[in-house]
Amino acid sequence: MKTYKIALIKGDGIGPEIIDEAVKVLDAVASCCDIEFSYEEALMGGCAYDITGDPLPQETINISLNSDAVLFGAIGGEKWDNLPREKRPESGLLRFRKELGVYANLRPAVVYDELVNASSLKAEVVKGVDLMVVRELIGGIYFGEPKGRDENRGWNTMVYTRDEIVRIAHQAFKIAMTRSKRVCSVDKANVLDVSQLWRDVVIDVSKEYPEIELSHMYVDNAAMQLIRDPRQFDVILTGNIFGDILSDEASMLSGSIGLLPSASVGAKIGVYEPIHGSAPDIAGQGIANPIATISSASMMLRYALGEDNAADKIDAAVKRALKEGYRTKDLAQYDAKEVCSTSEMGSIIANYAAK
Ligand code: IPM
Ligand code: MG
Repeated sequence: MKTYKIALIKGDGIGPEIIDEAVKVLDAVASCCDIEFSYEEALMGGCAYDITGDPLPQETINISLNSDAVLFGAIGGEKWDNLPREKRPESGLLRFRKELGVYANLRPAVVYDELVNASSLKAEVVKGVDLMVVRELIGGIYFGEPKGRDENRGWNTMVYTRDEIVRIAHQAFKIAMTRSKRVCSVDKANVLDVSQLWRDVVIDVSKEYPEIELSHMYVDNAAMQLIRDPRQFDVILTGNIFGDILSDEASMLSGSIGLLPSASVGAKIGVYEPIHGSAPDIAGQGIANPIATISSASMMLRYALGEDNAADKIDAAVKRALKEGYRTKDLAQYDAKEVCSTSEMGSIIANYAAK
């Protein structure tokens, strides 16, 4: 039997509640896939700041690097919004990504048939959407130098090197090879020099993937096309800030931000987390939707551990729970047969996954 070491970073707000459900589901599939998990908890975000004075204690980095994968809840909340920037939970998260070298952020947006009416777009526009945003995560304007501000000016720098573009492009092409083999690279090459380099390098890398159909789109047009006709996309390859924005937009196609998982991968350890935030307004009430985190655990099984069979079981269990009409409160008005709490939803999915 194989034992995997998983670092659990529950974080703030609803983080602990949703991670507990993902663990429940992981343990349920473990028992029938001849694998086992050992968990080690680590602190990050506002809760880490409260205890240690640092939103990302070194111990958390050590525990993470010493595990097979990191399962992450969510961080942040109003309580810490007025701290100096380097003490804020978000700074901890950015530093964490950088320290772990997770340069590729994979954010799928899938529309479940059962929830096609939950989207704010028309059912006929979103039905069947299944796309993946591949966002560069540790470069671009988030990290570029120089940056700073004084009384009258604030500045950041969007910079990409050839090597940074090459590695993220390979990720996108490799993922596309397992899907419908289409990549749309999103940039602003009509205006930005950094985007012109991005486009040239993506074209160079694409020569190693002759089966892939590569297209290019400016980011403003991509934002429009995502709403006009989202089914035209398979893999969207883009830089850090464009990917931040487009992945939030894409998440809404599915109706609830509580449904979508993500994976951040690189040369070392991967981080698996829901794409939503810590939702402090509903924390502790047992109403958060755990599906995004449970699906993140499934991505972890697939991408970090190579346990595709266990991942398939979780994905099927999530679909079945939705199909049978189980809904957490966020989706209660969409064909709910039964409205359930966070932990009831976790138990239902765990139960299906174990079969
Ligand atoms: C995300 C978030 C983060 C980002 C914030 C919290 C720093 O919006 O993961 O998309 O901008 O990357
Ligand atoms: Mg974001």
